[in-house]
Amino acid sequence: MAHLAHYRQAHPITFVITHWVNLICMVMLVLTGFIIHYPFIPGVMGAARGVHICCAFVILLNLIYRIVAAFFVKSAPTGGTREVEKDIKSFLPQKDNRHQLGAWIKYYLFLKKDHPLGAKYGVPQKLTYDAIPLLLLCIAFTGFCLWVPTSNAPLFVGFTDLVGGIMNVRIIHYFLMWVFIIFIMLHAYLASIEGLAPLRMMFRWKEHKGLVYSPESHTIVGEDKGEEDNKEKS
Ligand code: HEM
Ligand code: HEM
Repeated sequence: MAHLAHYRQAHPITFVITHWVNLICMVMLVLTGFIIHYPFIPGVMGAARGVHICCAFVILLNLIYRIVAAFFVKSAPTGGTREVEKDIKSFLPQKDNRHQLGAWIKYYLFLKKDHPLGAKYGVPQKLTYDAIPLLLLCIAFTGFCLWVPTSNAPLFVGFTDLVGGIMNVRIIHYFLMWVFIIFIMLHAYLASIEGLAPLRMMFRWKEHKGLVYSPESHTIVGEDKGEEDNKEKS
């Protein structure tokens, strides 16, 4: 199946950078989290804790910036177009996604060969992206219950008591890490299942030719053959 063109407008550079920051921080948080959980390398516990809390603050600031920027920065609401609108719209219900949840679930369950054509993010993809900030806030909250400078604040101590003590907070924090690990594995797999174009865009900000889509008529209106096509035209 031919794919929609991947234009930079779908992922403005500022979101490519926030994505890199998420990825680097996540890798560091998981690595240092494992070292804190299973101190298998002697003598690095202090450094692991320091890096862990540092990356925690960076990823939280990055999250705040990403959410605020979604209301100000414009991005293309689908692949295959350079037309843009407020980025936040891609994370809310869109006309292009209407009634597609069932078809997407069938595609993910291997009951359907092709997925529906629609907005930039498929329905389950969009729901997952919306859940990520909430999950991050949950893991951060339990992290602050564990962090000595904040663990005695009434909000955090209240939660620690509610769940039955610091050991249970550690278990919740550790369990949430596995939710992130599973998300990242599925996300990386699904992002690359149809070729490397989405990865090239998200990591190197490189465009890729393909079908052209009109957000007004919600149909394919042509094909962008990239440089070959442009040479022919000039
Ligand atoms: C975003 C805010 C976060 C904060 C404030 C935070 C904070 C903390 C703190 C204070 C500890 C305890 C360190 C110690 O015992 O000295 C800890 C442990 C840990 N963190 Fe985080 N963390 C955060 C995010 C994450 C993320 C995103 C992951 C992984 C995806 C993660 C994985 C872990 C693991 C596995 C442990 C060891 C738990 C245990 O068995 O005790 N943390 N974190
Ligand atoms: C191996 C790691 C990763 C790979 C290969 C990857 C790949 C991608 C790709 C290709 C896209 C564009 C999807 C599209 O346009 O349909 C994307 C978007 C996205 N990814 Fe990842 N990603 C990775 C790690 C992460 C991590 C660690 C997070 C967050 C904790 C994350 C959160 C997101 C979000 C929220 C988007 C939506 C785009 C945006 O924020 O502007 N990704 N990712």
